Amino acid sequence: MSEVLILNGSGRGKKSTSAGLGIYLIDLLKEESIAATMLTIRNQLNSEEKIKEMVDAISEATHIIVIAPLYDDCQPYNVVKAQEIIAESKMNLENKHFLFIANSGFGEPEQITEGTLRIYKKFASSVGFRWGGSLSIGGGEMLQGRYGKLLHEVGTFAKNAIVELEKIVNSIKSESTYPDTEIILIPGFFYKWPFKQLFTSMNTRGWKKVAAKNGEKVDAKPFL
Ligand SMILES: Cc1cc2nc3c(=O)[nH]c(=O)nc-3n(C[C@H](O)[C@H](O)[C@H](O)COP(=O)(O)O)c2cc1C
Repeated sequence: MSEVLILNGSGRGKKSTSAGLGIYLIDLLKEESIAATMLTIRNQLNSEEKIKEMVDAISEATHIIVIAPLYDDCQPYNVVKAQEIIAESKMNLENKHFLFIANSGFGEPEQITEGTLRIYKKFASSVGFRWGGSLSIGGGEMLQGRYGKLLHEVGTFAKNAIVELEKIVNSIKSESTYPDTEIILIPGFFYKWPFKQLFTSMNTRGWKKVAAKNGEKVDAKPFL
């Protein structure tokens, strides 16, 4: 009998795209009578008791799914820490499937597949997990998890992600491997005139505002 443990690796915790994906996945799994729970890694690192609770949950699960954002082309620190804890625990992971769902800020899922996906794969094989598959989602902010939105509340932008989550559930049900998959949430017209120019300038203004707020000289050109 499958038992799925989702580890939410977002630094945003419950109000995140990762959490939104996890909650939707849990509902789909429960519809198939597959037991599923989600832990937020950030919270599990707070104390030795919480760490033990996470390690115990991993040792009981048949499928471990890390759902995390991309941070600096890599996995967030709390995921790295969880990976270290798993490796150091030396628990037997031989028959456990490890799946990975990532979302990035940039629209191109290659941001994920060209780097961090390889790290997750290497991790899975080095600790002895069975690779269960991966879903790389470009443009994850479209799912509006940071506003606490759930997938069914964001309309068409969530369509592709929902289809893939259903496939993941089918793969768990049939004990098969879900193929490494990439999806794009930002529609193609966003990359064309005039949207491209509009969003690029909005983005630039946004970054400059944050930089100025943090005391940076936003228009400095030190290499000129
Ligand atoms: C510290 C930090 C680093 C990030 N680095 C990247 C990056 O390298 N590439 C990218 O596409 N997005 C990057 N992002 C954006 C997040 O991946 C994106 O906002 C994601 O949708 C957040 O998902 P969450 O709500 O599940 O945390 C970064 C965000 C933060 C906070």
